[in-house]
Amino acid sequence: MGGPYHAVKISDHVYWVGAIDWDIRDFHGYSTPRGSTYNAYLVVGDDITLIDTVKAPFKDELLSRIASVTDPKNIRYLISDHSEMDHTGALPGVIEAIKPEKVFASTLGVKDLTAQMDPGHEITAVKDSEGLELGGLHFTCFETRMIHWPDSMITYLAEDKLLFSQDGFGMHLASSERFADEIVDCPVFEEGAKYYANILLPYSNIILKLLDRVGKLGVEIDLICPDHGPIWRGDNCARIIEHWKKWATQKPELNAVVVFDTMWGSTEKMGRAIAEALEDEGVPTEVMSLKSNDRAAVVTKVLEAGALLVGSPTINNMLFPSVADVLAYLKGLKPKNLVGAAFGSFGWSGEGNKQVNEILTDMKVELVADPLSVKFVPDDEALASCRDLGSAVAKRLKEVVDSGS
Ligand code: FEO
Repeated sequence: MGGPYHAVKISDHVYWVGAIDWDIRDFHGYSTPRGSTYNAYLVVGDDITLIDTVKAPFKDELLSRIASVTDPKNIRYLISDHSEMDHTGALPGVIEAIKPEKVFASTLGVKDLTAQMDPGHEITAVKDSEGLELGGLHFTCFETRMIHWPDSMITYLAEDKLLFSQDGFGMHLASSERFADEIVDCPVFEEGAKYYANILLPYSNIILKLLDRVGKLGVEIDLICPDHGPIWRGDNCARIIEHWKKWATQKPELNAVVVFDTMWGSTEKMGRAIAEALEDEGVPTEVMSLKSNDRAAVVTKVLEAGALLVGSPTINNMLFPSVADVLAYLKGLKPKNLVGAAFGSFGWSGEGNKQVNEILTDMKVELVADPLSVKFVPDDEALASCRDLGSAVAKRLKEVVDSGS
């Protein structure tokens, strides 16, 4: 099979043969304004091995890129590092097209793949740290459970000092360039932070252990090839690993995020007054109205913040729907090491900010004060209370940052 697409050679034995999704704008609830890629890699030794496939609608693009190197039927082995459908939707069709001799996945990958689909082929389980010699090349597979699914693994190709890192070190970014150092129109580490915050954040403790384990293996890494976004090479490999360590640690930083929605402007006035006080105390503060920021943007800022303050009006005895959405999302992603507070205005009953307070408590945010309430419109006295709240959070945050905890 031919087609308009071509592969890109990225190392002595490896070609990128993935698909570029210029159109995707939502990846299971995470806004992706720059699109994404589903990366797959062709490893050419004495035999040919395919690492991962792509989302189902992109099967022909994958096969076309492979065909620019070799007849897809020449592929003898297929390694599936992660069973989520953005990497395996095309798997049954690809297996049917190439008829490989062996298909490999982790032990849990075998179970998860066959639970989700009929792959049309027996899947061979590889154990953690198991080596595979395929076509004269040496692969080692490492289980990376929960990064990003229980079945996940990464695969190291010794001859090219290359790590196929699956969801690890990825980002949602469609681009004509294949290497991160070639991309000039997008801050790749910011996009990497957004990906980490929205996909990997709950697994930070596991990620720290994995990074430690990989460091102790002492393997040289010249290339990190994720399943989304650009490839890291040279110094960028160490830089993205250092960023992941920082994001996984979430050491408290001297900056704050003030998030709110507003019905008639009162909760916004409160949030702006709180933010002014934080700034006056020397705490850089991001003001995030939910009229103009979505949940993915909020968690990206929270990833590198030390304080989180959330404001909600009360509507029908409940917190505002947009605030509920963001808090449900944040709670699931489990950001850690935050101080903060709840605030909000109300007309009659005032449950909104108390419900925010309960959720922040569940999230283990260290609350500096009781929820701050204002009836109807904040007057000068109420705005002074907002400033006091901002100052109190700033003072506590400085103590936490200074103590290094
Ligand atoms: Fe890119 Fe967890 O799939």
